[in-house]
Amino acid sequence: MKCDLNEATRVQIPAMELINVFPLNFAFFWGWQKAKNPRSSHMGFGKEGKRRRMSGAGKPDFFYREAQRLGFVARSAFKLLQMQKQYKLITPGSSVLDLGCAPGAWLQVACQSLGPPKNGGAVVGIDLKKVKVPSMHCDARVQTVCANVMNLPRGQVRALSPQQKGFSVILSDMCPLVSGIATKDAALSAELGMQALNLAVGGAALVQSDDNFQVEGQSDSSSSVQNDGGVLQLGGHLVIKLLESEDVKEFNQICKPLFRKASWLRPKATRSCSREIYLICQGLR
Ligand SMILES: C[S@@+](CC[C@H](N)C(=O)[O-])C[C@H]1O[C@@H](n2cnc3c(N)ncnc32)[C@H](O)[C@@H]1O
Repeated sequence: MKCDLNEATRVQIPAMELINVFPLNFAFFWGWQKAKNPRSSHMGFGKEGKRRRMSGAGKPDFFYREAQRLGFVARSAFKLLQMQKQYKLITPGSSVLDLGCAPGAWLQVACQSLGPPKNGGAVVGIDLKKVKVPSMHCDARVQTVCANVMNLPRGQVRALSPQQKGFSVILSDMCPLVSGIATKDAALSAELGMQALNLAVGGAALVQSDDNFQVEGQSDSSSSVQNDGGVLQLGGHLVIKLLESEDVKEFNQICKPLFRKASWLRPKATRSCSREIYLICQGLR
């Protein structure tokens, strides 16, 4: 599994060497290397650490070093920290669902954002991989589940929320195994994003036609959309990671009438060669 070309690969050859040998196709080459090692992890330090110490540009990676220094299990922590700073999605007492949570950096940031344990709140992480809750920055409010989000019925996800009342924040940092074929990767990423949206807002809000996504009731976008069993609470926030393509515009079109505000963010910690982009949806109507 991998996130994007840079973060998810287990390549023994230093990045600069790859760029020199494959000046036009190194991105594809990285995807191919990863496909040979499908079990390699995306993020975290451990065995992957050496490889990640350098960014694609060959410079020491500031976010990597900072994450290590601060006890985060991956540099991706800074993406959610930036979202928190800009949008204040998670507040004390929030119930957070973290889709694609391995190795756990967003679990750490989410838990910290809840404030001290006396404030309550909960963080539930789901990933294809088994995730041990990081000991730093996490407490008993964090739990993880090993499952494929694509096969999870909304009822089962709702059952994981506090008092089965749904979640106030849903984060999806899920990403597919990158093939190196941009259109294919973007399409897979859109599928994961659509599943996150479907879990969050429920089937009444979304109708998928042949190759177009439509929102039911779009003719009356001023009225509230019925939340028929989605696991995101009214007023809740949703973050979806996507790989840039024509499809991402459709997500914006779908989400705009459903939420008070929908905006795009490319976090500073995103590597320069990555096509990842986040749709930040605030305030489910
Ligand atoms: C970029 S990583 C997430 C990093 C995480 N936010 C963090 O900060 O530690 C993407 C994760 O999505 C997971 N993933 C991809 N497809 C999935 C699916 N269908 N169900 C559950 N997890 C999935 C991968 O296993 C991978 O661990």
